[in-house]
Amino acid sequence: MSKKIVFSGVQPSGEIHLGNYLGALKQFVDLQHKKDCIFSIVDLHAITIWQNPKLLAGRTREVLAIFIACGLLPEKNIIFKQSEVSEHSQLAWFLSCTARVGWLNRMTQFKDKAGKNKEIASVGLYTYPVLMAADILLYKATHVPVGDDQKQHLELVRDIAQKFNKDYNQEYFNLPEPLINKTATRIMSLRDGTKKMSKSDPSEQSRIMMTDSNDQISKKIMKAKTDSLKMPSSIEATEKRPEIENLINIFVACSNINKQKIIDDFASKEISVFKKELINCVTSTIEPIAFETEKLLKDQKFLDNILSENAKKAQLLARKTILEIKRIVGVIS
Ligand code: TYM
Repeated sequence: MSKKIVFSGVQPSGEIHLGNYLGALKQFVDLQHKKDCIFSIVDLHAITIWQNPKLLAGRTREVLAIFIACGLLPEKNIIFKQSEVSEHSQLAWFLSCTARVGWLNRMTQFKDKAGKNKEIASVGLYTYPVLMAADILLYKATHVPVGDDQKQHLELVRDIAQKFNKDYNQEYFNLPEPLINKTATRIMSLRDGTKKMSKSDPSEQSRIMMTDSNDQISKKIMKAKTDSLKMPSSIEATEKRPEIENLINIFVACSNINKQKIIDDFASKEISVFKKELINCVTSTIEPIAFETEKLLKDQKFLDNILSENAKKAQLLARKTILEIKRIVGVIS
C-alpha cells in the first residue's frame, strides 16, 4: 500500500476566521500526529482576485503564525508558501491540458465568486481548480482535509488524476480522498445562516477572526442574527432554523460536546442564555491562539526562516514529480 500523505492549503487572502479553523486547521493539528503532512499557504490562489501587493507577504506570515499558534509543529510538517515552489505552476499547465472545459464550467465556486459578469473575471479564477489539483497531485497526497465548500474541487482533482492515468496508460496518480470535519462541515455567516462564513463577506460582523479580542467576539455573537423563539428542544427543530443551527454547530465544534447534549442543556431557554455560554466557549478556543499569534508575529525572521527551510523540502519532492511527469508526457525521454 502507498504511503499516506496529507496535503491542504489555505489562502492568505485575508485573516483566518473561525470557519477556516473549525473546518480545516483543527483537522490539520490532529492529522500531524497520524500521517505525513504538507500544508501550503497558497498565495498564487489568493491573487486570482486582486490582492494589495503591500499586504500579501505579511498576510502569508500571519497565516503561518496562526498555523503554529493553533498547534501545527513546523519541524514535524512541511509548511511552505506556494509561490516558492514553481513546480505548482508547471504541473498546473500539464494538468490544464488534461482537464476539460466542461468540467471547469460546472464549478459552483467560480460562478459564486465571478458573480453576474463572468467576462471580467480573471482567467486564473476560472482555472483555479486546476492549480489546486496540481498542489495536491504534486505531492501524491492521499488525503485532503478541507471544509465542505472544497468538496466539488476535490471531485475535479480526482477526475483529472483519473484522466491523466488513462491518457498515459498508467496508474501514476492516487485518487485523493477529502477529509471533512463532520461537526464543522460548513460554518455559516453570523449575519445570514444560509451563507458560508467567508473572508470576502463585506460585513466584518459576519465572521469571527482567529485574532479577535474577547470583547470583539462577545459583541459579534451577541449581535449574531437569530429568530425570536426560545432554544430548540430537538435536532429536527434546529434544522428549520439555520442561524440557531449554525451557532449550535459552532458550540459543538469548539467544545467537542455532542450536539444532542447541547440541545438538551439549552432546550426552551432564552437564546441570550445560550449566547452567553457560546461566548465563553468561543473565547476560550480563540484567546490562547490569538495571544500566541501576536507573539509569533513579533519575530518575522523566525517565520521567514520556517518558510524558506520548508520550501526547500517541498521543492525536493516537487522536482521529482515534475521530472516523472515530463517523462510520462514525453517532453523528455
Ligand atoms: P480557503 O483559503 O478559502 O479556506 C481554507 C480552508 O478553510 C475551509 N473553510 C471553511 N470550513 C468550514 N466553514 C467555512 N465557513 C469555511 N470557509 C473556509 C476551506 O474549505 C478550506 O479547507 N481552494 C482552497 C485552498 C487550496 C487548497 C488546495 C485546499 C488551494 N489548494 C489544495 C486543499 C488542497 C481555499 O480557497 O481555501
